[in-house]
Amino acid sequence: MTVFIDRIIPQLGIDLLNDAGITFEQHTENRELSQEELIARCSKHDALLSAGWGPLDKKFIQACKHLKVISLHSVGYDRVDVDEATHLKIPIGNTPDVLSEATADTAFLLMLTVSRKALYLHKKIINGQWGFSQPIDDLGVSLTGKTLGIFGLGNIGFELALKAKAAFKMSIIYHNRSHNEKAENELDARKVTFEELLEQSDVLAAFSALTPETKDKFNKDAFSRMKKTAMFINASRGGVHNENDLIEALKQQTIWGAGLDVTNPEPMQADNPLLSMPSVAVFPHIGSATKEARDGMAKLAAENVIAALNGKRLPHVVNPEVYTE
Ligand code: DGY
Repeated sequence: MTVFIDRIIPQLGIDLLNDAGITFEQHTENRELSQEELIARCSKHDALLSAGWGPLDKKFIQACKHLKVISLHSVGYDRVDVDEATHLKIPIGNTPDVLSEATADTAFLLMLTVSRKALYLHKKIINGQWGFSQPIDDLGVSLTGKTLGIFGLGNIGFELALKAKAAFKMSIIYHNRSHNEKAENELDARKVTFEELLEQSDVLAAFSALTPETKDKFNKDAFSRMKKTAMFINASRGGVHNENDLIEALKQQTIWGAGLDVTNPEPMQADNPLLSMPSVAVFPHIGSATKEARDGMAKLAAENVIAALNGKRLPHVVNPEVYTE
């Protein structure tokens, strides 16, 4: 049994595959394979371990129906047509939990960076513009005692709320379909309606998966309901906010600031107006980019491949329906 790996993943994952006697072919060039190339490569293998970003849509799944597993090197699976994979009984694996802390750290970093206009002021030094300044120039905002609103409070949101409460005594509100009892019991988090989340948050952080319901959820209308002093943080998927509406909301001072680890599209173009706004910070999707998190992801992704190629249920499966008769 063999697996195709479409990027260079941490050695820990490779070692696990080797130890399990699974042979692999790895795409090691510094470029994303086109879908046609990926289909051609997968045709010679029994499994795909994918750390790429291209769509694994209906066309791909139908062309690769022989695969015994599509093991993602990510927790998000919005790039996969899960319904089609389920229909064809192909299990999809992902890597939950191991990147929650790293992603929450990234959101925390964005929150602080935006609150003090840190990237903008750093660029001023690089551009030779650190000169005379008045005590009223380039002021940031304090986070202490403010309200952190979380859209989609799961493991990542919980970690951010924990840090925000400990560091800045922030109050936590959230909007989910169901109650997060752990957050309510341990962090005094309060479940609110989406409208209340918009109206009451000083920092509003989005962590929801990208689905048809959450696509463009943060749009002109949503930004217009937020406080003029609020900042919007997105460390989930760029599609959850409407980027043109966000740019306009910041230009019109409908909201105060924004911190993005994800953009729409990715990569962001260098001339995007967000990159020159004082109270904006943009990172190139680094949420899970720590040694620890990426090792954890490689381990889970390899374990999913090993399970599938041994005829077992994936330990981390997105579509458990494939196992029901
Ligand atoms: C994920 O795992 O979905 C992250 O966004 C990848 O870094």
